[in-house]
Amino acid sequence: MQISAPRGTADILPDISYKWSYVEEVARKIATTFCYDEIRTPIFEHTELFIRGIGTSTDIVRKEMYVFADKKDRSLTLRPEGTATVMRAVLQHKLYAKNFNRLFYIGPFFRYERPQAGRFRQFHQFGLEALGLSNPAIDAEIMHSTCSFFNALGIDNLSIGLNSLGCIECRPDYRKSLIDFLSAKKDELCEDCRERLAVNPLRVLDCKNKQCKEVVAQSPIMLDFLCSGCNEHFSRVQHYISTFSLPFKINPRIVRGLDYYTGTVFEVVSDLLGAQDALCGGGRYDLLAEEIGGKIIPAVGVAMGLERTINIMDKYNCSFGKKRTPKVYIISLDDSCDDMVASLLCRLRDNSIAADRDYSSRSLKAQMKEASLSEAEYAFIIGQDEVSSGMVKVKRMSDSYQEDVNIESVIDFISR
Ligand code: HAM
Repeated sequence: MQISAPRGTADILPDISYKWSYVEEVARKIATTFCYDEIRTPIFEHTELFIRGIGTSTDIVRKEMYVFADKKDRSLTLRPEGTATVMRAVLQHKLYAKNFNRLFYIGPFFRYERPQAGRFRQFHQFGLEALGLSNPAIDAEIMHSTCSFFNALGIDNLSIGLNSLGCIECRPDYRKSLIDFLSAKKDELCEDCRERLAVNPLRVLDCKNKQCKEVVAQSPIMLDFLCSGCNEHFSRVQHYISTFSLPFKINPRIVRGLDYYTGTVFEVVSDLLGAQDALCGGGRYDLLAEEIGGKIIPAVGVAMGLERTINIMDKYNCSFGKKRTPKVYIISLDDSCDDMVASLLCRLRDNSIAADRDYSSRSLKAQMKEASLSEAEYAFIIGQDEVSSGMVKVKRMSDSYQEDVNIESVIDFISR
């Protein structure tokens, strides 16, 4: 039986890999513009990092992690997200000595979810993490870089959904009030939310079930419970976002699926994505470093889902830049011309000119067809006459203009 890729994973084949290269290139450009440095962390980590970092009450830790024992029976987990991993690296390598770090990453993450449109078991994120400062300007800067990324890709008309989850001072009162409210309406909640009410009541707020949404529409909201410090921080975040002219809407139902958030949280969603509508999510996580055994490092970050980004670019008909095509395709009329073809191909490539050739001794017609399919700008046609005269027949594919050019000046000719 033929073996295929595991469920929820995808091969990124050549007909779409150029889209990925383009999106990653734009991501790196944005990261550089905002002065973020790249960090690359392992694909797997000690399981404990995610249990402590993401939280035992989250769906990710309870149901979605790829956990395995290595040969020495240590529990390891394929990274389900990047924030805890980055913070672990910052603590391990004492990057905090620098006071403020801006770090970015691009790579695969793994969650054992039910695969559906926009939801995979291996997916990719472009993440930005700003570590060391609690200044609300950094929260806004993270949102600015997020919008710049989407705008640079041609995705506009997006709006940031913004909320604050408060801090350890003010959230417990809200949590209690929410539990009281939801407990009284327990029978109207879906089965999952009845379970969430016991383990992670805030998650009831972002349930997609219609009936739960109706219940939640009447529920108390965190913003009414914010302490003065959180209130002040949240107003200043909004002030900076307005200064950056970023479109945003307060959405008190945004709670996020990871336990490490404190204060600012945000998401960008799009109707065009269907049920899995979040293009990105992020927020402040001032207590994560301490949670995983380090000193307190205030931090804020975001991660953008690249599968969903590319999906929405397709829907908006955005450009993915130019697909890689050869500049020259060399056609050989006769096997006896092979030395000239091989040395010309070599010279072109040594001069950084993308070039390809036919290797199968096919007919002129078949090779011309191949040259046209390859979308090469020029075809070089070489037969015995060309070998004896040292000339190359150069054909410009766009208008079929043809000229005989001396082999010594052919590179200059096509580079003009
Ligand atoms: P998250 O909301 O779990 O946050 O994921 C961020 C984005 O990754 C989502 O908005 C979505 O686009 C994409 N994503 C998540 N899961 C899947 C999946 N199964 N299939 C396809 N795409 C998916 C985090 O991961 C946080 N670490 C974000 C963050 C960074 N917060 C602070 N810093």
